[in-house]
Amino acid sequence: MSTAPHDPLLRFRARFPILETSTYLVSNSLGAMPASTADRLAEYAESWNTLGVKAWAARWWQLPIEVGNIVAPLMGAPAGSVSMVPTVSQAQAMILSALTFTADRDEIVMTALDFPSVRYVTDELAPKLGARVTVVPTDDNISIDAQRVVDAITSRTTLVAISHVLFKSAYIMDVAPIIAKAHAVGALVVLDAYHAVGVIPVDVGTLGADFYMGGVLKWLCGGPGGCFLWVSPEQSALLRPALTGWQAHKRPFAFEPVLEPADGAWRWLGGTPTVPALYAALDGPAIITEAGMEAVRAKSQRQTTRLIALADERGFSVHAPRDAARRGGTVAFDVPHGPAVAQALLSRDIVIDYRPGAGIRVAPHFYTTDGELEAAVAVLDDILATRSWEAFAASRPVVT
Ligand SMILES: Cc1ncc(COP(=O)(O)O)c(C=O)c1O
Repeated sequence: MSTAPHDPLLRFRARFPILETSTYLVSNSLGAMPASTADRLAEYAESWNTLGVKAWAARWWQLPIEVGNIVAPLMGAPAGSVSMVPTVSQAQAMILSALTFTADRDEIVMTALDFPSVRYVTDELAPKLGARVTVVPTDDNISIDAQRVVDAITSRTTLVAISHVLFKSAYIMDVAPIIAKAHAVGALVVLDAYHAVGVIPVDVGTLGADFYMGGVLKWLCGGPGGCFLWVSPEQSALLRPALTGWQAHKRPFAFEPVLEPADGAWRWLGGTPTVPALYAALDGPAIITEAGMEAVRAKSQRQTTRLIALADERGFSVHAPRDAARRGGTVAFDVPHGPAVAQALLSRDIVIDYRPGAGIRVAPHFYTTDGELEAAVAVLDDILATRSWEAFAASRPVVT
C-alpha cells in the first residue's frame, strides 16, 4: 500500500491511551480521549470543591466562549464568534427560533441524508412556526445532487439547513452553488459540520454560510456535550433567537426582567452552561490544531483510499464517495451479516460502528497507523472465514 515512509502525526498517539488497548477506528462516532482530559476534569472537580460558587467568576461562566475560541481556528472563525451549546439539535432549534416565517416565505430546505436528530427538531418545530420542510431526495443513498438542492430553493425559502458532510457516507456536499442560490433568493444557510470540522480544512469566511454548527465529540476528541455554533457577524447582529437564556443577556447578573441580547457569540447561548462537558472539550480541539488540518486531511485521504482498495479486493459494496476530494473521513462498506460481524469485530477490540443502509463504518484519524487498517481487515477476513460472527447473530447490537 501507499505507506507513508514517515508519518509525523503518529507522534500524537502517546497522548491517547485507548490506542494502546484497542484498534480505535471509530472517531466518526466518538473520538479518543486525550490523557490530559482526565486532568481537565479533575480541575473541574477541584474548582468546584475548593472555590465553590466562586468558580463561576473564576472561569465557569466564560467557558462556552473560551472553548468556542479553541474550536474557532479549526473553521477559520475569529475569537468571540463561536458559542458552545449542548447539542446540534438545540443549535438548530435556536436558529429556527430566530427566524420569521410568513405565508409566502415559509419553506425550510433539507435533504434525505441529514442527521435524523436535526431533522426531528425541524419537523416538530416547523408547523408551530408556520413553516414547512422540503426534503431533497438522494439517488444512491451516498450523495445529494447539489443541483437538486439548488432547484428546491425558491422565493419561498427562508432557510436551507443541510449537512456539510453527510454522516452515513462522508460525502462532502458541493455547498457553494447552494449557498449562492439561497442568498440570491434572500434565504439563509445553516451547515451541519459535525463530520467536517477536525477532519477536513474549513474556512467559514470562504464558505459563506450564515450558520455553521457541529460537535467536538467525534473528530475533535472533545467528548459529548460540547457543540459549537458560529453565526456570521451580519446575521448575528440582525437576529434574536427566542430559544435563549440568561447567558445571552447583556447584563446577566443584573437579573433584569426583560432580555437585552448580548452581542457576538454570547447572544447564542442559553441558560446555565454544561460546565463539566466544556472542561472535557478543552484539549481535543487544541491537539487537532497542533496536528494541523492540512496534514490531518492528507493522511485521511490516503488512509480512506487504502480502505476502499481493501474493501474492493474483497468485493464488499462500498458506501463512500470514490473521489477522495468529495470524501470525508469515514469509509462504510457492507459485508455479509453486517451487524453480527460488527459485533464480532468489537469483541476483538477492533472498534468500528455499524449503520443500517451504510454497513460497517471505519474511521481512521490522525493517530491511526496504516498497520491498524491492515490488521482490522485481517480480523474481518478471519471472522468471515471462521463464521465466528454466528455467535453474535442473535444478540442485540451494542451501541457505538
Ligand atoms: C451530522 C450529525 N449531526 C448531528 C449529530 C448529533 O446531533 P446532536 O448534537 O443533536 O446529538 C450527529 C451525530 O451523531 C451527526 O453525525
